[in-house]
Amino acid sequence: MAEYLLLASGRDADVFVLDESRVLRRYRHGGDTAPEAALMAYVAAGGYPVPRVYVADGPDLVLERLDGETLLASMLAERTDVDAAADLLVELHDRLHALPARFGTAPTDRVLHLDLHPQNVMVTSRGPMVIDWRNAAEGPADLDVAVTALILAEVAVGPGAPLADIARNGLDAFQQRAEPPRASQLRRAVDLRRADPALSVAEKAALADAAALVRTRAG
Ligand SMILES: Nc1ncnc2c1ncn2[C@@H]1O[C@H](COP(=O)(O)OP(=O)(O)OP(=O)(O)O)[C@@H](O)[C@H]1O
Ligand SMILES: [Mg+2]
Repeated sequence: MAEYLLLASGRDADVFVLDESRVLRRYRHGGDTAPEAALMAYVAAGGYPVPRVYVADGPDLVLERLDGETLLASMLAERTDVDAAADLLVELHDRLHALPARFGTAPTDRVLHLDLHPQNVMVTSRGPMVIDWRNAAEGPADLDVAVTALILAEVAVGPGAPLADIARNGLDAFQQRAEPPRASQLRRAVDLRRADPALSVAEKAALADAAALVRTRAG
């Protein structure tokens, strides 16, 4: 891969520039991207904004290369304010949850992203786009909302200005706009995060505080 420019390195994947119009997203620890690619094609067919998938081959995805920056980068650079970011996150949840489930048969089953936070949204010349569908599943819409609130709260209770402050304000603004998740779904969100191998021991230890912050603000 030495010949390709490394664009970004996330927790799970490295993203390389292939050319002006395509990137390669490669899982470092293996895995099968086929389910993710199929889901991305499904939501795209429903009009949901995701990068096009050109190839899915084992741990590799060849994706449409998006211009612009992540929503978090845009917030840190003060190109997007907290209210606009919260509006956008709520809108992206609502649009996703308006699609019919692919497999689920319960009336409340929806497609869930389950990692819909400001680093998985890119602000592009074609509008906002949602990336990183690895955790996607189906279930009730408020589970997805609970996961987003919890992720914002995890950052808010963590160390580090300006990120913690932005996350706290972001959580506030998000909760003002989103339909509050049921307590049962917030508990499921905590369980999902606790089971996520991408979280460090310290991050898992902060989950209880983060959930408490979500509950305070939901009340
Ligand atoms: N289609 C794309 N076009 C341009 N840049 C992209 C694209 N997909 C991902 N990126 C860049 O790569 C970064 C990581 O992507 P992604 O979230 O899919 O990987 P990840 O390893 O799951 O990351 P993390 O663990 O941080 O969530 C993004 O923040 C973005 O900067
Ligand atoms: Mg990501």
